[in-house]
Amino acid sequence: MDRAEFVNLIDLSDYESIWWEDIVVLAHEIMNYPKKYEKRCQGKIMATLFYEPSTRTQMSFQAAMLRLGGGIIGFDNPSTSSVSKGENLKDTTKVVSSYGDIVVMRHPLPGAVKAAALTADCPVVNAGDGGHLHPTQTLTDLLTLYEEKGKLDGLTIGLCGDLKNGRTVHSLLKAMSSYPNNKFVLISTRELELPDYIKQTLTNKGVEFKEVFRLEDAISELDVLYMTRIQRERFASEQQYLEQKNVYVLDEEKMKKAKPDLAVLHPLPRVDEITIGVDEDPRAKYFKQANYGMYVRMALILLILERSPKPAPLLKGEIRADICCSNPKCITNHESYLPHSFVINGNKAVCEYCDETTEI
Ligand code: NCD
Repeated sequence: MDRAEFVNLIDLSDYESIWWEDIVVLAHEIMNYPKKYEKRCQGKIMATLFYEPSTRTQMSFQAAMLRLGGGIIGFDNPSTSSVSKGENLKDTTKVVSSYGDIVVMRHPLPGAVKAAALTADCPVVNAGDGGHLHPTQTLTDLLTLYEEKGKLDGLTIGLCGDLKNGRTVHSLLKAMSSYPNNKFVLISTRELELPDYIKQTLTNKGVEFKEVFRLEDAISELDVLYMTRIQRERFASEQQYLEQKNVYVLDEEKMKKAKPDLAVLHPLPRVDEITIGVDEDPRAKYFKQANYGMYVRMALILLILERSPKPAPLLKGEIRADICCSNPKCITNHESYLPHSFVINGNKAVCEYCDETTEI
């Protein structure tokens, strides 16, 4: 099959929101009638290539494929694969994608999964690329809101913690800002505030958002509170991490100020930003959310293998060998064979791998 026919999932925004809803509705159906789906992927193989640690994302993908009757291969520790011998991303993906029918990849560098999809011989799914995006967590979050709040619009959503490095936050904001009348309260320190390019996306869409420092000042107005972990592994130094650690802790005291129908979400893992006592509160939905993640991934695998919807092109901008992305973490600064591709607007070049802007 021609590579252009693969339905890759790199960024949910590459597809219309109607497709996200198809996935959510199918996941709901699978949850209710699991038997009907238990052989749907018989004879198919999913490869999970995890260059970064994971519990939920990797295992829920694997459990999803097994529950659909398919098989799984892959690694979760690149040091036990040929990556440790210096193999580049292109070669690993090229070979593994010829063994499997779908590749699910997590990588520490932004843009890496898109880069892998450029040469893969089967569809590729982004299971998290550095601090950039995490579209399948967002599908999980959409299913959670659909099940627990009964709607995806008209919600006041607080996002709290590491909004700078939290890829789950970036993907969720991009998706939820597509639905009418959602309002966002961004709760973070100055150091961990949302990257400008995502604030710009919200502004361009005319979405209402405000930035606040104290969780206790915002909690009473929220319908949804999305707590996140401070992303220790993305800090330049341990000292910088320690300064941010423990700034936000959701506890039973703060929950007293919240609405009776608040839904508390967290992509997990939790470190210490939610006290254990909150787990018993019926408004704590994060363990349910992790379970929904498996069903949403079942639905996603099925739709991708059935080649729905129409595939989205991976690169749509200008190939410019003369411009280098200014983001040192961008995959294009680590794998030299990649075409540099940008959307150019005046003297600004937006990288098509990591979304950062370079002045030209
Ligand atoms: C998140 C991730 O990996 O980005 N976890 C997940 O996929 N459920 C959140 C995190 O690591 O903090």
